[in-house]
This record gives sequence, structure tokens and C-alpha cells, in this order.
Amino acid sequence: MHFQCIVVEFSRDYHLLVPTPERGSRKNKKEEKRRITRILANGFAPIRRFLFLIPTHHDKNLPLPYDVSMSKPDPNLPSAGPDRCVHWFRQATPYIHAHRGRTFVIAFGGEAVAEAGFSELVHDLALLHGLGIRLVLVHGARPQIEERLERRGAALHYARGLRVTDAEALACVKEAAGAVRVEIEALLSLGLANSPMAGVRIPVASGNFVTAKPLGVLDGIDYQHTGVVRRIDRASLRWRLDDGAVALMSPIGYSPTGEVFNLSAVDVASSAAIALGADKLIFLLEEPGVADASGGLISNLLGQDVEALLTDAPDIPEELAQSLRAGAHACIQGVERVHLIGRRTLGALLRELFTHDGAGTMITASPYEELRPARIDDVGGILELLRPLEQQDILVRRSRERLETEIDRFSLMERDGMVIACVAIYCFPAADLAELACVAVHPDYRSRARGDKLLEYVVAIARRQGIGRLFVLTTQTAHWFRERGFEPVGLEELPLEKQALYNYRRNSKVFIKTL
Ligand SMILES: CC(C)(COP(=O)(O)OP(=O)(O)OC[C@H]1O[C@@H](n2cnc3c(N)ncnc32)[C@H](O)[C@@H]1OP(=O)(O)O)[C@@H](O)C(=O)NCCC(=O)NCCS
Repeated sequence: MHFQCIVVEFSRDYHLLVPTPERGSRKNKKEEKRRITRILANGFAPIRRFLFLIPTHHDKNLPLPYDVSMSKPDPNLPSAGPDRCVHWFRQATPYIHAHRGRTFVIAFGGEAVAEAGFSELVHDLALLHGLGIRLVLVHGARPQIEERLERRGAALHYARGLRVTDAEALACVKEAAGAVRVEIEALLSLGLANSPMAGVRIPVASGNFVTAKPLGVLDGIDYQHTGVVRRIDRASLRWRLDDGAVALMSPIGYSPTGEVFNLSAVDVASSAAIALGADKLIFLLEEPGVADASGGLISNLLGQDVEALLTDAPDIPEELAQSLRAGAHACIQGVERVHLIGRRTLGALLRELFTHDGAGTMITASPYEELRPARIDDVGGILELLRPLEQQDILVRRSRERLETEIDRFSLMERDGMVIACVAIYCFPAADLAELACVAVHPDYRSRARGDKLLEYVVAIARRQGIGRLFVLTTQTAHWFRERGFEPVGLEELPLEKQALYNYRRNSKVFIKTL
């Protein structure tokens, strides 16, 4: 097949038709995806995935050069105006609740500070603070340091992606870090009536939160005043955050010997996140996120897979590689989620935090809680999870034999070898319906949004199969489903084969959710 267009998916609602310059063939599809990824890297939200190719004969009038279109409008989503704002607020509400009182460490480079649009990022940070998120900001200062070194006519020394900080460079580091810190403090203090910060008063706390030690001599190179984090003063940071301040950390640390060290902002951010047991560590990067071999954005990554990814992609930019390594390490050390977000995409931070689709790459630690399709040897674990619920008549009883036959409908979450949650999906494509069944979370693991994850997972499976509605039969969990957009319907809405099997003694209620 030859194609003239590739459809790129940015989010559930926004797709982009990208015409190819010449008639493409399946063979050069990969090359074409790379080209598109490069072109779109800066102007658009990160690519979630490539959907399909449009054959050459498909449409003679495809818009050129690009057309961002709502190719799959959500019937519930108003297209513009104040209604859209109301809709957005409503869909963001669960995230607003979930993030309140949480601690986020957010790192960004000096490049972000140097740009005119930096004030917009600061407004977004102020908004997060206003929503009750405990913020620790970590800034870099590389371009500002280099500018000062160049002005002095001093040479720039780097090895392994790190600065070799001699006495002259250290003077520039101190100057630049101070200037950047003051700039950020000034923007956070802005309260002009006609700005988004009107009436806002954000206390900012900076200080000697980081104890550092010298990096030392590596491969014969003495890094001099370049250091690494030795300790974070967790108590002081917590005290400032408890007091309602935004903590601001510079890439600088102090040693008990009274020396000053130039640190990497990535090191400072991940050490602070680990020390605080932060809920999120967020890197705002020059890159849009982490791309897979065909150029699509990887939206989820396990910490344990990071090294393999870096080995497979030796050309990955240094900043991204450092953030990936630090993120994976932070996950192992107990930081629940690490996000790598392209800072150039407008509102990427808010999108990552307040929308279902997100905007970057998220690293999580828990391989044991990976949601995965069930295998035949999981039957025992699933039965163990389901039996008590069947005894309480919450779930319909399933025999081992039936479970074995239907195991490919099941997905599960495993932790330390134990099945802690499961869900099944039965598709009825002719009726544009899929049944959500056997949703169960082990009692010890409830109320931590695992149920929501199971639901999201099943919704994604149904969507992939082109199914538009999900139904569920329940006796005791009606409200849980109603709170997640399921509407009560009559039995006649179900596929005929399902109606025929309806158990009138059980008298389950029927709910449908339109996807
Ligand atoms: C329903 C279930 C899957 C939710 O799992 P979870 O991981 O706890 O889900 P979440 O963390 O996403 O949601 C938790 C919220 O759901 C609420 N909830 C749990 N069971 C509920 C029920 N039967 N009815 C209404 N709300 C319920 C919790 O109170 C909690 O609300 P809160 O945060 O306001 O206190 C889990 O409670 C379970 O396994 N229940 C037994 C099996 C079952 O009923 N399955 C459905 C069969 S059709």
C-alpha cells in the first residue's frame, strides 16, 4: 500500500493529519514517522502514538501543510466558549482533590528561566501552590553560567556531561545561581492587578538546604568545585513547606568545611524528592519526553526498564539521560511518580497533572503492580482474590474451569507475587458494547485509585477495539460506578445473549458508560 498521510494522535481528542512529501510506501513508514516526530517536536503537544496511514487514493483535498483537527469529537465536550471551561474544570476536579497537600519537586533548567515565556511557567507554578500543592522548585543555571564565563573570556570545561568547576567558574556559578534565584523570587512575588498573579502572595524560602561533597577525580580529571549531594536538610525543607512557602533550591551545595560546590540541578531535585518522600518528581525538559524507536512518545516507563532504554538509544540527549537515570533511582527510593515533560509545549505541566492523557513520560517504580494481561498460571491467585467476594454475593461465582477457559479476558495487578486486583472484559462488538466484569481490589489495597486504574485500562482495551460503550451488572457497587460516569439503564439495553443469561434471582442493576 502507498500512503499520502499519517495520522498522529496527541491526545484522545486531537489528531493531526500529516501529509507526506512524496507518495510513501510501507517500507519507508518508519523513516517518515521519525521525520514527523522531528518536525512536530517543538510546535505541538507530544505525540502519543501514530494511528494509521491514509492511502493515496483516500482524499484528494487533504489540507497542507498541517491541519490540527478534532477528529474524534467527544459528544459531551462543548467545542468552545465558557461551557468548555466548565467542562474542563469538572474533569480536572478529581486531580485537584488528589494533588492537594501532596509534595511535588519540580526541576527546570536555566534555559527555561532565560526565555520570555518563563513568566507563564511561574504562573502555572503559582496556580499549583494555590491549589494546595507543596512545591519544591529546583532551578538550573547552565546558560547563565556559560554567559558569564564567556564574558570573562574563560574556557568552558565539561567531562561526562558535567562542568569542571575551577575557581573562575565557581565565581560565575555563584553569580548566575544568585541572579536566577532572585529572578524567580521576583516573578513569584508579582501581584499586579492585571496579571494572573493578582492578589497572590507566595512566600518563597531558599537557603542552605543541601550539604555537598566534592565529586573528586574521575578518569584522571579533577572536577574541583563540582560536587554531588551528600545530604538534604529534610527537616528545614518540611518546616518551610508546612509554613505555606514554596521552597526554591539552586544547584549549589555547602560542605561542613565551608566550601561551595556547583551541583547538577537533576541531582539536587532527585535527592530532595527522595529525602522528602515526595509524591512527584517532575523534570521540565528541552525534549518533549521519551520517544520509542518509531518516534512516538512513551507515556509510561518502569524504573527498572530505564537502563535498557538508554542502552538501546545511545544518542539520547544528555539532559534527558540524566533525568531518566535520576528518575529511575528516585522511584526505587520511594518517590511514587516521576514525570519527564517537555517544557516548550504550552501548559504541558498543567496537562500532565490535570488531564487523563497527560503530556509527557511518567516513570513508576512498582513492577509488581504493573497492570498486565492474566496468564493461565494466575488462575489460583485470581480465585483467591474473588472467592471472598463471591461468598458475600458481591460477585457471581465462577468455577476454576470457567476461569481457565476465559483467562484471556482477565487482566490483573500483581504485587510481590500476589494478585491484588483484577478485571475482565467481554466484548460484544455487534452491539457496540463491552462488559466490565470481576472488578476487584484486595481489601488491603483499596482506596488508592487501583479501581480507577482497572477501569481506565479496560476503557482503553474497549476503545482499541472500536467499542463505544461499557456496561456492568452490579448488586452492591452501584455508586462506585455511578461516580465514574456509568448511567443506570434497563435490561433491554444489553446485548441479546446477555439478556438471555440474566439472573432474575440475583436482580443486578445494569449501568452503561459511553466512552
Ligand atoms: C469497587 C472497588 C473495585 C474499588 O477499588 P478501589 O481500588 O478501592 O477504588 P478507588 O480507590 O478507585 O476508589 C475508592 C473509592 O470508592 C469507594 N467505594 C468502594 N466500594 C464502594 C461501593 N461498593 N460503593 C460505593 N463506593 C465504593 C470508596 O469508599 C472510595 O471512596 P472514598 O475515596 O470517597 O472513600 C473495590 O472496592 C472492590 O474490590 N470492591 C469489591 C468488589 C466489587 O464490588 N466489585 C464490583 C463488582 S460489579
